[in-house]
Amino acid sequence: MRRLLAKISFVLAGLLAVGGAQGASMTVQADQPGAKLNPAMWGIFFEDINLGADGGLYAELVKNRGFEFPDAMMGWSKLSPSKARGKLSIRDDSPFNAANPHYLRIESQGKDLFGVVNEGFRGIGVQAGEAYNFSAQIRKVDGNAKLRVELYSSDGELLDTVRLEKFSGDWQSHAAVLHPKATEAKAKLYVLVDGAGTLDLDMISLFPAKTWKNRPGGLRADMVQKLADLKPGFMRFPGGCIVEGSELDKRYQWKKTIGPVAERPTLVNRWNYEFLHRPTPDYYQSFGLGFYEFFLLCEDIGAQPLPILNCGLACQFNSGEECRMEDLNAYIQDALDLIEFANGPTNTVWGGKRAAMGHAEPFNLKMIGVGNENWDQPYIERYTKFQAVLKLAHPEIQLVASAGPSPDDARFEFAWTKLRELHADIIDEHCYAKPDWFFNNTHRYDNYDRNGPKVFFGEYAAQSDKIVSVKNRNNLECAIAEAAYMTGLERNGDEVRMASYAPLFANVDGWQWTPDLIWVDNLRSYGTPNYYVQKMFANNPGDAVLPVTLDTAGADRFYVSATRVAGPGEIILKVVNGGNSPVSASLNLAGAGKTISSASASTLTSGSVKDENSFDAPEKVAPQESRLEITSPQFAHVFPANSLTVLRFKITN
Ligand code: AHR
Repeated sequence: MRRLLAKISFVLAGLLAVGGAQGASMTVQADQPGAKLNPAMWGIFFEDINLGADGGLYAELVKNRGFEFPDAMMGWSKLSPSKARGKLSIRDDSPFNAANPHYLRIESQGKDLFGVVNEGFRGIGVQAGEAYNFSAQIRKVDGNAKLRVELYSSDGELLDTVRLEKFSGDWQSHAAVLHPKATEAKAKLYVLVDGAGTLDLDMISLFPAKTWKNRPGGLRADMVQKLADLKPGFMRFPGGCIVEGSELDKRYQWKKTIGPVAERPTLVNRWNYEFLHRPTPDYYQSFGLGFYEFFLLCEDIGAQPLPILNCGLACQFNSGEECRMEDLNAYIQDALDLIEFANGPTNTVWGGKRAAMGHAEPFNLKMIGVGNENWDQPYIERYTKFQAVLKLAHPEIQLVASAGPSPDDARFEFAWTKLRELHADIIDEHCYAKPDWFFNNTHRYDNYDRNGPKVFFGEYAAQSDKIVSVKNRNNLECAIAEAAYMTGLERNGDEVRMASYAPLFANVDGWQWTPDLIWVDNLRSYGTPNYYVQKMFANNPGDAVLPVTLDTAGADRFYVSATRVAGPGEIILKVVNGGNSPVSASLNLAGAGKTISSASASTLTSGSVKDENSFDAPEKVAPQESRLEITSPQFAHVFPANSLTVLRFKITN
């Protein structure tokens, strides 16, 4: 009886519009699996932009902890009550660490507390009752002063205070734990000399004890959890344009980001000064989140690492400075050494460094990107040399080459022509464009040459306004446009092996670029509608594409991609209705078997295409889960206006 009813509703749905809905019909050929999908197809792209690392994922709460910013007191201010008498100075004689030579000297006459205040990254976020680990390198110069470390709220309430004492004439590490009595997003850290004396201080640090996996000096747990929930197949890092640097001496150099954090030299972040309309003069890279931590993060969240290396060119949007061809070997050597760092035995130089940092097992690196958004002959010349050396030494490593910043301009065509001739493995295409571009290009890969390089759609996002505009919003319309496009990527999963949205994080108080996948403040984070689109695809991948015959019968902007999961015998449909009316569709899972033993729907939509999430309503636009009462492989389903629906079926014969 149930089966009969399902059949009747299937037929009716093909003929009738439900409540004004438009009609569509689709047949999924469940017994004809086509292209094998990359199980790691849907990934993430992390770049230190929008305070993504320092002030974001890297949980350090003190800005400029080593006094290495060019303005060495940036982030710090003097605290000198009226009775206090003292002096602050920045010095570099006999430093704690030669790689980060500057430190702070506090001389106090002891008439009152005297010292400095750190403002954090747009404030310091602390939770009531949680533990915060303070540490610093301290050297006594003279006197017998103690040190007071205090957390204050933005309106001047003391949240906790601890005292350190017994300092030596040599640099020594000192630590204490603070337990703020209230939750505060914009706290300040006071470091005050108590009594008469002179102290030298460096690497002044405050970390929540509760980091991701409670690792000391680790990553913000809520932010990593958001990444883990995506179940990303891979992670591309560390950029983006910061790989290139505005000039070559400001490029990202992975070797300077490993080992003890105090030995990692601070570097200006190119997003500090890139946009005149969004200047961020206090944006520097501490590299506390460096390459070892990136590899560890990938391992933690089950993502394959995809490091991107500088190819010998500074950002071609900036200076475009070119490393001389005869000097390129140093850049290529960095790539060879990185492979050894990630995969080499512990008795090799770089494998040994990995082991010394705590990871004797290899990180299982399988891919490296040569360059970010690079183009024209200077890039091709350099890529050619990288490829020749790396393929000889490490044929097991797949190389990702750049197609430049645009999905369809002369630079793109030039890159593809040359890289095809070079038999490149994978080409990284980027696209930031209006939602229409994404809706209109869902068939982009249908006719790509299957015998040439594979595609990595490495950076993309729909822009509600225009590229680089501060008015771009993470709204439902953009998310649905991306979802429509992703059905095209998945249908062409034999050619498009990987894809990642960009950028990943943005701090509401310190961003340069929008839209972004996840927004954070000092205490909270929320996923955008775009985040949920990524999650719905990455959590429901399938192992092979299934052919679909789709009759949209007038339904505008209606897209589908079907996959199967062989083992448990599942069929997964991702259906995008990008139109403004619901679509009532008849579906036929042909050749699948006789009975559907379970069916579920996950639906992402909202009342308006302009709807967004926020800290106050973090799940206003989030998928709704439901079980479907379907037993026959022929059935009807209504797809709401402006929606992405993932349907999952278990079939029994
Ligand atoms: O995602 C922001 C920037 O956009 C990246 O750094 C760059 O690769 C692209 O132009």
